[in-house]
Amino acid sequence: MSRTTIRDLQDRYESGEPITMLTAYDAPIARQVDAGGVDVILVGDSAGDNHMGYDDTLPVTLEEALSNTAAVSRTVEDAMVIGDLPFLSYGTSIAESVENAGRFMKEAGADAVKLETAPYGETTIEIVDRCTELGIPVQGHIGYTPQRTNAIGGAFVQGKDRDVSAGTEALVDTAEELEAAGAFSIVLETVSEAAAKAVTEAVDVPTIGIGAGRYVDGQVLVINDVLGLGGESYKLSRQYADLDSEVRGAVEQYVADVESGDFPAAENAFDPIEE
Ligand code: KIV
Repeated sequence: MSRTTIRDLQDRYESGEPITMLTAYDAPIARQVDAGGVDVILVGDSAGDNHMGYDDTLPVTLEEALSNTAAVSRTVEDAMVIGDLPFLSYGTSIAESVENAGRFMKEAGADAVKLETAPYGETTIEIVDRCTELGIPVQGHIGYTPQRTNAIGGAFVQGKDRDVSAGTEALVDTAEELEAAGAFSIVLETVSEAAAKAVTEAVDVPTIGIGAGRYVDGQVLVINDVLGLGGESYKLSRQYADLDSEVRGAVEQYVADVESGDFPAAENAFDPIEE
C-alpha cells in the first residue's frame, strides 16, 4: 500500500474527518507512530530541542534535518512524511530554497515539505509557488513561527491584535496567499481559537492546529509531549504516556541486576557452562 497522499488528505478534509499529525525524528518512534494510525508524520525542526539536545530549533542544519527525515522515511509505510525546512535553509534565494526543498524528496524520501511564513511573507509565498509548480508539495505554517522567535521577541499567542501578535486579518490574508500559491495544508501554531476558526473558514485546504483550539481541520503535537519524553512539554499539549519514568525505571533495574549478579543469567549466555 502506498503512503497517504495530498489527495487522500484533501478527501479526508472534504468529508469532514479530522486529520491527525504527529512529529517523529527517528526510525523506532516513527515505526510506532505510523502503526498507531496517524495520517501525517512531520519530521519537524522541533527535533532541535526534542531530539538533538539544542536549546531550540534555530541551530538545526539542513544536513541534520535531511538525516532525521531519511531515518523516518525509511521506516514509514502508511503515513505521509513531511520534511521540515530548517532555519535559513530557505528564503535567502529562491533557487537555493527550491533546491534544498527538493533534497527532502530526492535524498530523504519525504512526500512533502513544510516551511514557516511570516505575516504577508512574500519570499516564502513565492517559494511555495515555485516548489508546487515543480512538483514539491508544500505545507504552510503560520501563527507563531519558532524560527522567527528572536525577531518577534518571544513566543507570543498570535491572532490577538496586539503589537507582538499578527492580527486575525493578517493571518487570514497570509493563509489565503499560501493557498493561492499551492500549499496543500496550513499549520496554525499558537493562535487564538477565534483567529484559527477565521483562517479555517477562509481557506479550502486543511488547517492543522497546535495550540490553535478546536475549530481547525486537524491536530498536530510534538511526539515527546505525547509520550512524556524529555521533560517540559508544550502548554496546550496532552500527555498519553510517561516514557521518562519508564526509561529511567528500566535503566535503574538493569544497573541493579548487573551489580547484584542477576544479569546475565544462564539463558543470556552462549553454550552456558553446566554448574
Ligand atoms: O517542528 C515542528 O514540530 C513543528 C510543529 C510544532 C508544527 O513545526
